[in-house]
Amino acid sequence: MQTSLTHKLKSISSFDEYKKSYNRSVSDPESFWSEIADTFGWHRKWDKVLEHDWTIPKTKWFTNAKLNITENCLDRHLEHNADQTAIIWEPNDPDKPSKQYSYRELHSMVCQFANVLKNKGIKKGDRVCIYMPMVIELTVAMLACARIGAVHSVVFAGFSSDALATRINDASCKMLITADGAYRGTKNIPLKNIVDEALHRCSCIDSTIILKNTAQDINWVSGRDSWWHLESIGVSDYCEAEIMDAEDPLFILYTSGSTGKPKGMVHTIAGYMVYTAYSFLNVFQYKQSNIYWCTADIGWITGHSYIVYGPLAVGATSVIFEGIPSYPDYDRFWQVCEKHKVSHFYTAPTAIRALKKHPSSLVEKYDLSSLQVLGTVGEPINVEAWQWYNDIVGNNNCPIVDTWWQTETGGIMISSLAGITPQKSTFATLPLPGIQPTLITPEGIEILETEAEGILAIKFPWPGMARTIYGDHDRYNKVYFSAYPGYYFPGDGALRDQQGNYRITGRVDDVIIVSGHNLGTAPIENAINQHPLVVESALVSYPHEIKGNALYAYVITYNKDEKEEELHTEIKEIVSRLVGPIAKPDKIQVVTGLPKTRSGKIMRRILRKIATDDIGTIGDISTLLNPDIVDEIIKNKK
Ligand code: WT7
Repeated sequence: MQTSLTHKLKSISSFDEYKKSYNRSVSDPESFWSEIADTFGWHRKWDKVLEHDWTIPKTKWFTNAKLNITENCLDRHLEHNADQTAIIWEPNDPDKPSKQYSYRELHSMVCQFANVLKNKGIKKGDRVCIYMPMVIELTVAMLACARIGAVHSVVFAGFSSDALATRINDASCKMLITADGAYRGTKNIPLKNIVDEALHRCSCIDSTIILKNTAQDINWVSGRDSWWHLESIGVSDYCEAEIMDAEDPLFILYTSGSTGKPKGMVHTIAGYMVYTAYSFLNVFQYKQSNIYWCTADIGWITGHSYIVYGPLAVGATSVIFEGIPSYPDYDRFWQVCEKHKVSHFYTAPTAIRALKKHPSSLVEKYDLSSLQVLGTVGEPINVEAWQWYNDIVGNNNCPIVDTWWQTETGGIMISSLAGITPQKSTFATLPLPGIQPTLITPEGIEILETEAEGILAIKFPWPGMARTIYGDHDRYNKVYFSAYPGYYFPGDGALRDQQGNYRITGRVDDVIIVSGHNLGTAPIENAINQHPLVVESALVSYPHEIKGNALYAYVITYNKDEKEEELHTEIKEIVSRLVGPIAKPDKIQVVTGLPKTRSGKIMRRILRKIATDDIGTIGDISTLLNPDIVDEIIKNKK
């Protein structure tokens, strides 16, 4: 590796500098990004910074460069900062001790486990599924994969066995890493049981490694299962990093789509590394010795980019929290902030809304004077939640970064830079340098006026973007590049003010965000349709005080005289089992038909209005195949 410095990446320090950087990133993107990439450690530098053609679509960054991301996240900090804390781990149970891991310790754990993976036959390019609680070993497992060039596919440990099996099979994972169980508040989730159920359907898995976490009894499949601690005995903690190509895949992470199957977004090594590090440093304005805490689960992209890769790439100290905001009480977040003197706190609007319902004394009883920067991500934040976050948590003294991005974008795209660029409540504000957003009409025409509302689109590649959908490049093309040729289409609507600030207004496709979880309507409808009495169903959202959105299911049944209550319970049970508890409909209405267009497409717009009790604005329904059904549905709504 050609660098001995911890990291030389500098963050933008004034609004003027932001404007200069931004303009340069647009007028000369290649020199802009190559200067940033130069601050990392490479085994070989690139021949070309960017090659792209979005008609195929193809995007390549740092062509032919060679590196290993774990050398950048770990090894290069060892010379000057080996004893600095990389991770502070806070357990679910506040009475248990927290733990601190220095860069030296983390490096050694990663290298040792990388050797375990090698001993189990895992090689460069193999896919490894990780289904784990929020423990340090989750991070170790991910980085160990990256160390040897294996591709990790982390599946959020709240997903059902069915969802897990689908994801394992889609990427034909060879190995699964899990734990006996997971602590979550008062619950103890039997991860290994869920895994056993899933693996009945996964012939691609050769072996599993199980972390002893809760020490509960588990079923054992000999020849397949092995214990993490036993496999590690006597294994060396020296592991040469595999030299990887810039565009080799680093990981696959699944996100919901508007048609049934989840999309396995593929992120590649160099561009993702450069982009997460750059965006982390600039958005949060992280400085040496700050303590940063992102409350997301590592099973989501927020955790991948802003708990694991971004912070480690710049040598930060960050907190990993095993628990939930409500256990033992609704003050847990603030207690952890005080305990670890957290300076940078990054969470989701759904958590803010849930905590806001409780007396502010739960916040005020803690010394939160260490807090400097607050962040939010995952969905639009409403004014009331923003105000509470700002006044009660931030004591009116912390910039709030409202960060808009997606699993597909790899890193933050639109956000203020804390204390550097102007913030505006409920607006994500301005794009990061290197990001070229715009608004377009439904016909795909770019809207040139600054103040406008439209469909959000991105005009130019950025290093952190996902390169494909695993095994289905055609779908990648259709979903993101075909709706509006020449643009990347994220699926969100937005408005723009006179200063060019963006406010994201919500999804324009069939994805619903419930409590910050991105749910496709199709897989949930498919699950509901599995009920033997259900003919057809349609799922829409309606606004919900805490969750942001809640789910409303309209179902057509074979027999109208069904006992409704039982049916509701059974439908919820099926959805919970096939998709996950988070996807259970909040309300279910049995109907005799659904409003459809002549081409047979369900008019969700109308169903959404009914679910929201906004029937005054339903508008013209004369183009429907069956306009009478609308009145009937309204009449029977409970
Ligand atoms: C969708 C992406 C990125 C990590 C978490 C979610 C919505 C995300 C914001 C924000 C308004 C937001 C968008 C986006 N979203 N951040 N700050 N303001 N909306 O990742 O599951 O891939 O979901 O979340 O609708 O498209 P994801």
